Amino acid sequence: MTPALDLRDGLISGRLEEIGRVLLFASGKGGVGKSTLSASTAYLLSSRGSVGVLDLDLHGPSIPALFGIASCSFRESREGLVPAKVDTVHVMSIDSFVRGRGLPARGVRKAETMKDMMAITNFGPLDTLVVDLPPGTGDEFLTALEMFRGREGIVFVTQPSMLSWNVTKRALGIAVAMKSGIAGVIQNMGRPLRQIERDCSKMGVPVLGSIGYHGSISDRPVSRLRGSAFMRELKNVLEAASLL
Ligand SMILES: Nc1ncnc2c1ncn2[C@@H]1O[C@H](COP(=O)(O)OP(=O)(O)OP(=O)(O)O)[C@@H](O)[C@H]1O
Ligand SMILES: [Mg+2]
Repeated sequence: MTPALDLRDGLISGRLEEIGRVLLFASGKGGVGKSTLSASTAYLLSSRGSVGVLDLDLHGPSIPALFGIASCSFRESREGLVPAKVDTVHVMSIDSFVRGRGLPARGVRKAETMKDMMAITNFGPLDTLVVDLPPGTGDEFLTALEMFRGREGIVFVTQPSMLSWNVTKRALGIAVAMKSGIAGVIQNMGRPLRQIERDCSKMGVPVLGSIGYHGSISDRPVSRLRGSAFMRELKNVLEAASLL
């Protein structure tokens, strides 16, 4: 039987060839700071190279708000949709298509939507593409692992609590089992927990560092966090991990 031909596969690999690396922000657990860290990392990286952000949180996109805009815009070109730059970062979000509405999608539809977005978006040459994922180990996580395979560095974000870590560890375990590219684990919103370091060392995964709780960052776009203690801590973590 002839294998099914998916025209998007060629398009997606063409797009990825122009991109130096893909940094994915993931976690089993919700609300741990994935979107905040991914948007802030993109912002920091953009002072040193060309950076794009792809918001694949299909049901709960936060990236536009974190860049201080109501919705991401793009320009249509023969080579695809060219995401507008917000500050210094090329930003594309699922929200560009649903425009403030919810996305009622499940199962295969979700993987299809993600592939469509990656195939249709023309970021052009980038040093780094930062991808923001929703929590969990379902469609979005698994599709992203497949779609970016070979190019990915996954940053797992957890709060330094056993409640958060016990869930995030499940997602990390899947990435380890699938031999995905794992950048490491960031503990966010508190003092680092020794148990997380012990577990990571058993799993052979680096702990990249920790970031404290900074109540003042809430609801401020990343451009307004410049020079803040939060950004300094994140910058230190990324530099120590050679991600910046
Ligand atoms: N280091 C921090 N200090 C204080 N607040 C923080 C910190 N990091 C993130 N937050 C806050 O925590 C909340 C959740 O953050 P965010 O939306 O980035 O998490 P998330 O993991 O992307 O959530 P979801 O799983 O729903 O996508 C936000 O209000 C954000 O401002
Ligand atoms: Mg998020």
